[in-house]
Amino acid sequence: KLYSGSEDNFVIIGHRGASAYYPENTMAAFRAAYEMGAEMIELDILLSKDSVPVVIHDETLDRTTNGTGLVADYTLTELRKLDAGLWFGREHAGEHIPTLEEVLQFAKGKIALNIEIKTEAVTDDYLEGIEEKALNLVKKYEMEDYVLYSSFDYRAISHLKQLDVDISVALLYEKKQSTRRLPSELVEDYTADAFNCSRRQFTKRWAEDTQRHNIPVFVYTVNKERQMEKMIKRGVSGIFSDKPDLLRRVVDNMWK
Ligand code: G3P
Ligand code: MG
Repeated sequence: KLYSGSEDNFVIIGHRGASAYYPENTMAAFRAAYEMGAEMIELDILLSKDSVPVVIHDETLDRTTNGTGLVADYTLTELRKLDAGLWFGREHAGEHIPTLEEVLQFAKGKIALNIEIKTEAVTDDYLEGIEEKALNLVKKYEMEDYVLYSSFDYRAISHLKQLDVDISVALLYEKKQSTRRLPSELVEDYTADAFNCSRRQFTKRWAEDTQRHNIPVFVYTVNKERQMEKMIKRGVSGIFSDKPDLLRRVVDNMWK
């Protein structure tokens, strides 16, 4: 397994790559995260109009590309023409929206991935088939042992486990869907392998619960040294950070 929450295998996760320094969810951000010492890259996937898994956080193109409207309204060929770096700074022009396949090609033999399956927040459309497509690509690149899947959408969580019980799936805590349930109860309900939540949600009470049940916990998004130390002391198995270089330093200082 990729993780178990001990100091030997605490996981440094580059959130959307090294997204503090490079445009999020681009190959430049992923390469930088790897070079900075991240052990896992987190990326968000959606489907193009022609059902190809593409790497982008929002269901609309407006914030992180020079396109507009829904990702789902454009074919891969159309999406590939967009610039995904310019919004972050002129010097980043020329970046494009990666496909999941492109990221797998890069990661193979180098770094683990957390593939976060996004569903349409605005339309609440369940992206039929996105899980199968992701799983098949991961298989194609023989990356099964190096991928953690996750989603805020519990339909996707259930579906992933139905497709293959052996894959590692993290349940992303979603307040609306999870009223007053403890992490261990949610993880059991969905037969998940890990629990992911915001650092603000991860209270001492939750830490006790997840430790008692031996559940690995990954918290996002932690970009400050003091907060990283606090979360590590609280027993998390990994941290999502936009600054994997800083997290690397904190981890090395704490355990060496
Ligand atoms: O998977 C952790 C984190 O990425 C979840 O939130 O909005 O950054 O995808 P978001
Ligand atoms: Mg994400």
